[in-house]
Amino acid sequence: MHEHENGEQRLGPEAGAAEWDARYTERDGAMWSGRPNGRLVAELRDLAPGRALDVGCGEGGDAIWLAARGWTVTAIDISEVALSRARQAAELAGAAVEWVCGDALQAPFPARSFDVVSMQYPALPKAAGDAAVRRLLDTVRPGGLLLAVYHDLDDEHREHMKAKGTDPAHYVDADDLGRLLGDDFTVELHVIEPRIDPPPDNPHIADVVLRARRR
Ligand SMILES: C[S@@+](CC[C@H](N)C(=O)[O-])C[C@H]1O[C@@H](n2cnc3c(N)ncnc32)[C@H](O)[C@@H]1O
Repeated sequence: MHEHENGEQRLGPEAGAAEWDARYTERDGAMWSGRPNGRLVAELRDLAPGRALDVGCGEGGDAIWLAARGWTVTAIDISEVALSRARQAAELAGAAVEWVCGDALQAPFPARSFDVVSMQYPALPKAAGDAAVRRLLDTVRPGGLLLAVYHDLDDEHREHMKAKGTDPAHYVDADDLGRLLGDDFTVELHVIEPRIDPPPDNPHIADVVLRARRR
């Protein structure tokens, strides 16, 4: 656990892994739809395949979609439970993905090595610090893209999440990324837009989309 100025305890990597494993295990079946995220598909379907990093890949829907389209994909998640489902789904789909179980904010991926770094609804703790986030952003190669997509949360939703024990303010958001991109990136898009192809009955109907290209 990390302790913060207000005495509140927040999750470090080991506790984060345990918490996410518990969330995934709560359900017998999959937590997510297995389909790729609509925004990812819309943004990347016309790009020539290259090397992609999927940060917080969950049960692997995006990574598998990318691999099936010829991308060389590394996908990282802190939850071994999620990754074991992702591996199974990839096997069924005949997709080759390099799955990494670990904390994306501590992973030693080589700098400037990915054509696309995708973060779809990531839940990266601010407690890890700006330097850790910068190292992750640094994995985008010159000319490559960062695509980060977040739920657009209104006050009511934030309060609801806080009541359930998760304060969105403790997680890196699109504004944090925008600030940390600095002069190394050109922000091509930073907008709130309707979610593309959301799962049925999902309360999250709008996305914050950040697309930035490394100079
Ligand atoms: C809201 S889910 C999104 C999953 C997936 N991207 C999707 O759109 O279906 C957030 C994911 O981030 C993972 N995660 C949380 N903290 C992480 C960290 N520090 N490093 C890597 N993955 C993390 C969780 O296990 C979870 O699978």
